[in-house]
Amino acid sequence: MSFPLILTQRMIDHPADSHLIDVYEGAGGYDVMRKVLSGMTPEQVVAEVKSANIQGRGGAAFPAGIKWGFLAPAEPRYLVVNGDESEPGTFKDRQLLERDPHQLIEGVIISSFALGVNHAFIYIRGEYPKPARRVQQAVEAAYAKGHLGHNIMGSGFDLDVTVHLGGGAYICGEETALLNSLEGLRGEPRLKPPFPAVEGLYAKPTIVNNVETISNIPWIIDNGGEAFAAIGDENSVGTRLFSLSGHLKKPGNVEVPMGLTWRELIYDIGGGIRDDRELKTWVPGGASAPWFVPEHHLDVKVTKDDVAHAGSMLGSGAVIVMDETTNVVAAAHRIVKFFAHESCGQCTPCREGTTWLENILWRLLNGAGRQSDIELLLDICDNISPGLAWPPKMTTICPLGPSAVSPITSIMTHFRDEVQAMVDLAAEPASA
Ligand SMILES: Cc1cc2nc3c(=O)[nH]c(=O)nc-3n(C[C@H](O)[C@H](O)[C@H](O)COP(=O)(O)O)c2cc1C
Repeated sequence: MSFPLILTQRMIDHPADSHLIDVYEGAGGYDVMRKVLSGMTPEQVVAEVKSANIQGRGGAAFPAGIKWGFLAPAEPRYLVVNGDESEPGTFKDRQLLERDPHQLIEGVIISSFALGVNHAFIYIRGEYPKPARRVQQAVEAAYAKGHLGHNIMGSGFDLDVTVHLGGGAYICGEETALLNSLEGLRGEPRLKPPFPAVEGLYAKPTIVNNVETISNIPWIIDNGGEAFAAIGDENSVGTRLFSLSGHLKKPGNVEVPMGLTWRELIYDIGGGIRDDRELKTWVPGGASAPWFVPEHHLDVKVTKDDVAHAGSMLGSGAVIVMDETTNVVAAAHRIVKFFAHESCGQCTPCREGTTWLENILWRLLNGAGRQSDIELLLDICDNISPGLAWPPKMTTICPLGPSAVSPITSIMTHFRDEVQAMVDLAAEPASA
């Protein structure tokens, strides 16, 4: 299968040194910035992004052009690029940060010009020292060439970019916790509204976009929004990076057009299941997403709407594949343990609920489970996310708590007999 490559084209042509400014410029890099600053208006750039109909690649899949349209007119305004990337199984932004930092910076310049922003921030996960180093070096190289700073290309447009490293907390990927973290406060999500586009960083209008979203901007402006919208599926357009992991023959990051089926993504692109075993289940969009199973979901299309209709989400683009040897209770426990550890503790249902879910799953796994644990798990989930509906109803400020519910409802829906088997194992008298 061959696909149009939007994001990874330059990396493929220059595997070893794609992060260097001369290599990037040699491959046409920063030409779109020149085109924008010498001949386009901010309104024209925003119009192209709107017509591209690109959905944000950070998890919520909100259309970027519409979000940009919400930006309040107050000054100053900020652009914040979300490179926190801490959702288990997700490693796509890492590739963009590490191997194509100038594509991101060019996207930041074009987006900032469009949004009337003179100071942008790139917030990078604390455990990503190499990507952060590369981005910092790229920012310095861009300043040295006059692509950043005062009066860029004599256009009268000024832009400063600050690279900021997080402290290793998953919750700082949630956009308002990220803004708190940038301000030097505890990384706790804020109540919304107000949304960041109205009151964000330092209480000023702020657009927060994912690394991949902003990295798409140069291509969109170069080729036109309609060209982007023509790739992929009617409702989910463009290409997207997926981080394939787990029991696949060919794990890794792939760039594919939206609208393939899961069968194509797992078997044709991911090479199928290692040792030719059976596929048991997969997480379609990061640890927060309800799991899919081959009996029902292999022919579902990889689009926002199709996946939502089937009861899950594309989320962060992390596809974690599990084969027939997987103990699904152990897998669910591992994911819930992550959320319990990363809960910021602000909201009681999340702080208490995730910890209890982790403890009960641990009990089941270790032969001490009780029959009542099955209902207890579901009851706790219902307290975090009433009705266990999809998309989740919330009793919390942010979706981290409901994320911990997904693995439990997944195993209860698709593998209840295996959960029951854990209980039955515990009920058996120890042999003499
Ligand atoms: C707990 C939590 C963690 C998140 N982590 C990230 C992250 O690491 N990167 C990211 O871009 N978005 C993350 N998000 C989504 C952001 O809140 C936000 O929607 C996104 O950065 C907006 O960018 P986009 O519109 O370009 O997708 C997270 C959300 C939640 C609730």
